[in-house]
Order: sequence, then C-alpha cells, then structure tokens
Amino acid sequence: MFYLHKLTRPVFRHGLTREHLRCLSTATSYSQNLVEKITQKYSLELPEGYKVKSGDFVSIQPEHVLTHDNTGAVMSKFKSIGAGKFKNARQPVFALDHDVQNKSEKNLAKYASIEKFGGDHGVDFYPAGRGIGHQIMVEEGYAFPYTMTVASDSHSNMYGGLGCLGTPIVRTDAAAIWATGRTWWQIPPVVKVELLGKLPPGVTGKDIIVSLCGLFNHDEVLNTAIEFTGHEAVKSISVDDRLAIANMTTEWGALAGVFPVDEVTLDWLYNRVEKFRSPSYINRNIPKLQFGDHFVHPRINTERIDQLASSPIIPDSDANYAKHLTLDLSTLSPHVSGPNSVKVMNPLSKLEEKNLAIHKAYLVSCVNSRAQDIRQAAAVMKGKKVAPGVEFYIAAASSEVQKEVEESGDWSTLLEAGAKPLPSGCGPCVGLGTGLLKDGEVGISATNRNFKGRMGSPSAQAYLASPAVVAASAIAGKICGPKSLSGEASQAHVEPKTTITVNSTPKRSESTSIEIIDKFPSSVKGELLFCHADNLNTDGIYPGKYTYQDDLTPEYMATVVMENYDPAFVQKVRKGDIMVGGFNFGTGSSREQAATALKASGVQVLIAGSFSETFKRNSINNALLVLEVPELVNDLKERYGDQQLTQRTGWDSTLEFDKGKLVVTIDGEVKSYQVSPVGKAAQELMVEGGLENWVKHRI
Ligand SMILES: *[C@@H]1O[C@H](CO)[C@@H](O)[C@H](O)[C@H]1NC(C)=O
Ligand SMILES: *[C@@H]1O[C@H](CO)[C@@H](O)[C@H](O)[C@H]1NC(C)=O
Repeated sequence: MFYLHKLTRPVFRHGLTREHLRCLSTATSYSQNLVEKITQKYSLELPEGYKVKSGDFVSIQPEHVLTHDNTGAVMSKFKSIGAGKFKNARQPVFALDHDVQNKSEKNLAKYASIEKFGGDHGVDFYPAGRGIGHQIMVEEGYAFPYTMTVASDSHSNMYGGLGCLGTPIVRTDAAAIWATGRTWWQIPPVVKVELLGKLPPGVTGKDIIVSLCGLFNHDEVLNTAIEFTGHEAVKSISVDDRLAIANMTTEWGALAGVFPVDEVTLDWLYNRVEKFRSPSYINRNIPKLQFGDHFVHPRINTERIDQLASSPIIPDSDANYAKHLTLDLSTLSPHVSGPNSVKVMNPLSKLEEKNLAIHKAYLVSCVNSRAQDIRQAAAVMKGKKVAPGVEFYIAAASSEVQKEVEESGDWSTLLEAGAKPLPSGCGPCVGLGTGLLKDGEVGISATNRNFKGRMGSPSAQAYLASPAVVAASAIAGKICGPKSLSGEASQAHVEPKTTITVNSTPKRSESTSIEIIDKFPSSVKGELLFCHADNLNTDGIYPGKYTYQDDLTPEYMATVVMENYDPAFVQKVRKGDIMVGGFNFGTGSSREQAATALKASGVQVLIAGSFSETFKRNSINNALLVLEVPELVNDLKERYGDQQLTQRTGWDSTLEFDKGKLVVTIDGEVKSYQVSPVGKAAQELMVEGGLENWVKHRI
C-alpha cells in the first residue's frame, strides 16, 4: 500500500522524476562518501532510489542516543512536550559521568531520579563511577561500526574511532528521539583527511590530532564531517589512538570524524568478544542476550562482527569531498598545544628549551586515559617520582579500564611514583571536583580541551600533550619529553608535510525542482538586511543577562535582540526581512533564545555564510529557517564592507524553495544563488512551528 502511494507521486523530494533519477543515478554526483552512505542507512522517508548527499536535510533515526548528567534536563523537556513513553527503549543510553565527585544531597537526588526514570522505562543506565559516557558507548558496542549514533554532548565525534558516525545533537533533539525515535540532520560538507607514511617512534596518535589542529588552524574543517583515509597509515594507528583523534576532531571544529573500519577495528571487536566470555562480564548487571547458559553480548558478538567483515561499507571511488587534506605522518614530531588553545602548536623540542615549570599534570578523561595511555605513562614513570611541588592527577576512562590497568600493574606504577588517583569520570577536564588549576599555575594535560579557564582559573595556563609527555613533565617538574629524563634531546622539529585541495560544490542541474509539502510556501520575498560580522556569538545576538530570565515574552525579546552587537539593530529590522549574517554565525554558548529572539524580531529567514551547528539546530528546532549562501555573503561584504553593523540594503530577494535558489535584485540587476534544498524534514518543522510541536503531533 505504502509503495503504491509513492508511485502516485511523480515528484520526489528533490523534485526529480523517476526518469531523472534513472539518468542521474549513473552520474558522478550520486556517488557517495562514507558519511553519506551511513546517513543513508539511518534516513527515513526517502523517495525510493534516492541517495542522500551533503547539504540534504534528512529525517534520521539514530541507532542510539546518549545523555549524561544532562539527562535530567532532557527529562524535563520530554515531560513538557507531553511525552510519556519512549518510542524504543533500546535506543537511549543514560550514563552519569560529569559531576560524579559532587556528593551533595542535591546532586545525589538528581542522579537517583535519573536512575529511577531510566529503570521505570527500561533504558540502559550506567551509574556514576562506571566511567565516561562516550567510553561506555564504545566499550558496550552502542557506538558500532557503520552505525549512526548521537549524543547530547559535543564529543560524540569520538565514536568515529570505530567507524561509527557519531555527531552531537541538542537537548530538544534528545527528547524528540526519546519520544518519536527520530530527529533531523543536515548532512555537513565532508572533508577527506588522508594520512600518509608512518609515525616515527615516540610520536603518538595524540600528536597526529594536535598537529592537525595546529597545522590547519583556519577553520578548514569547521562544521564539516571528516573521513580519515589512507589504509597503510591508518592501519598503524590503534583503536585507542583513533578514539582520541576522533574525540579531538571536536576541538578542531568538525561535527564528526570517522575512521574506516579495517582489520584493526575488527580485531579490537573480536577481542572484546573474548573479554565478554569471562565470568566477571557475564555476571554484570546489564541487559544481555542469553541462549540457555550461553551469554552473548547484545551488541558486540561474533555474528555481528562477522557480518561487518563480510559486508564492508566503503566510499565510492568518485565520491564528493568538499576538501581533501593530507598529512605525512613520517614528518611529525611530538607536539604540545597551548597555552589555552588547541590552535597554538609547539614542537616539544622548542618548549623544552624554555624550561617551563609546571604545577599540575593530568592523565584523565575519555580522550587519553584508556589502558594504552596509562601503560605509556607507566613506562615513563617506572621507578621514578613525581617532582616535588607538582601534583599529578590520574583517572581511568572507565571502571573497566581501571580494572585492566590494576591487573597489569601500570596503575600501581603510577601510584608509587606519587600520582593522585581520582574516580573514573570527567572531573578536572571539565573544571569539576578536585585538582583544578589555581591562579597563575601551569598545567599539562592529556585531555582534549585547554580553553582559558576550562580546567580552573582563567589566569592559569593549560597545555595539552600525549600521556608520555605528561608523565615525563610530571617527573621533571617542567614541560619535557621522556627522552630528556635520561639527558637526551627530544626529536628535533621538522616541518610537517601537508597539502590541501578545496573542491567546488557540485552544481545541481537547472531543472531541479524540490518537493514542497502542504502549507510550506514554494517561495518567500523579503529585503536583505545585512549584519556583516563573522563569528558573531550568541551573546552578541542575545545578551547573557537575559538568558536566565525565563518569563520574558517574545515581544520583549525583540526589543533587546542583537543589543551587544548593535543597539541600533532593533530600529532597523522590519518584519519579513531576510537577514544575512557573516560566517560561523551563532558561535559560542548554546542558548536557544539567540534563535527565538531573532524570530521574534520579525526576521523571516536567516542566511549566513555558515552557522555554528548548535545555533543551526536551535534555530530549526524553533522554526527559524536558516540557510547557508556563502556567495551572497561575499557579494554583500564586497559591496558594503563593514561600514555599518546593520545595513538595510534595498536588495529585494525571492527565495524559491521549489527551485533551490535565491534570486536577488541588485541595483536593477538580477542575480541567482544556489541554495541547499530545504528538504521535507525541515519544511515540516517550519510548518508545525518547531520540533517540540512536531513531536506533540506524533505522540
Ligand atoms: C553539586 O550538584 C548540585 C546539583 O546538580 C549543584 O546544584 C551544585 O552546584 C553542585 N555543587 C558543586 C560544588 O558543583
Ligand atoms: C572526549 O573528550 C571530552 C572532554 O574530555 C569528554 O567529555 C568526552 O566524553 C570524550 N569523548 C570521547 C568519545 O571520549
């Protein structure tokens, strides 16, 4: 029946008739990269034969959705939408990991209410102490190769280490997935990062990502999805290192960082199956598949891995990539990033010359406190002592890692050297609990973020490095590598070898027309209102001082919108304007009001060169349509520069949604710009007034 219904509709989502599709399916523009292929598997309601590609808005039903300490906030959303039941209780995962050292009555009560809620609904729940949520997702097979798994946390990218498309969502999305099983995604541009050559000895996986962040530090991968390629080089990188690299693609600016699935991945998974055979695993209190007295892990089992091995998903040879970067691993030397930014990269040998004394060192968090990392640190510390005046904090990524390193003796090696153990969890990496950096202190950490103030005082200096360098620095009391402990100089710095190629966006054919659902306009008209600033942050759009006043009406919000950017904005904006911002619009804090206030001010559609992903999600979730048209932004910048913060242009424009284009009249001349198709998933949200209403209509 369903099929017949489809046949009666000759026009598909992108307006392609069956004939078009037949022609186009052989054309190169329909070849897919890995990110597109995985997304395809998780997209709903696609016209038959339609292949998704970068730029498409799709309805997705992810394999799993993780929430951590923010589960409580998502529970409130879920209830306020009026949802009572989970669409599929196997989809969500709750893991408490952020504020685990907080034993206040209030926090324990919050944790207990999350546990009870999970229990009542039959959701997989991992209590405080079990480890960092992302690590659990990996250990327990929720982040499985070739699946799409999301989390209400920016480091969901980590799942890419196993070839899983992991990407962040916001809390409203999590509530929508709990209630309906689905939310939406706009497939980002995909960048191929090709690794060549082999890592020299003493250089670790962490150095690869620290180098990538430092070498390509002009937003080359901002808001893109990365695919790592280069079979020989990738093969030499362990799964633990791949996870650390994928995790830190977040800091690099990307929305996903996916490794290929190869023999190293498969071996890692088969090893997990071996582990799961031991009695301590079998007796764990987690849902499992049991056949008689035979226990099989519900997600990581031989059958499922065999199937992966026999049906690999690989990108088409002529797949499209927005950019192609290469890095020759053989030209890398150990690096340290900082202070206070991953974009500042220092060759270790240069920092050693500076004799930078440290006060604290950290081997904690999900990025770099897996067994291999702790082993590398232990190898450096064996028989040595942490320098007087230095505090060295360690925390295993999970209770399972803790057990493994206790058995191997690596944990006690670190304790004997004077390391201070913390419970397994996020702790100082996110500025919580014991051991934070105090005013003026210098810290070196094998974590993934060193933003000013994140690990303690804003006047402290935080550096990031590999576990071996952190361990050596803790012993020497200053930043240095393991070699310098025995008086040798660290490997001399050479210039890393890289290349970058930027590919043009494939043009859609002129005849393309896009399916428009009932009640969604096929076109809208408006005058362009231009705010030129790049990286306009959400505090500029909606000041922080109003953010926590929950009772402000849309009318009031419209009187303060953009106040920190341009107090004159509210006098200039008119109802029905098509507003145009710069690049990376809406960066910074995730406050939803930045989107709702712009909508309240009468802005009909918001265009920018590019958007922060969180801002984009908040906007579309709140029925403010946002579109990326970089060529238009460049034209406006050329014409108006930065003369006025808010410029009325007099340029009348028409967004033709059915044709995927924007037609602008500039001083009597007509110019047309290509616009990503506003797919059905996004149209529904606009028509129904945002994601919460969309969910309400479906429960
Ligand atoms: C502990 O947790 C509670 C509840 O989440 C929170 O209100 C409080 O601020 C936390 N305490 C500290 C010291 O972070
Ligand atoms: C990545 O690092 C962040 C910050 O330490 C952490 O919160 C997150 O859980 C990590 N993700 C993974 C997948 O390890």
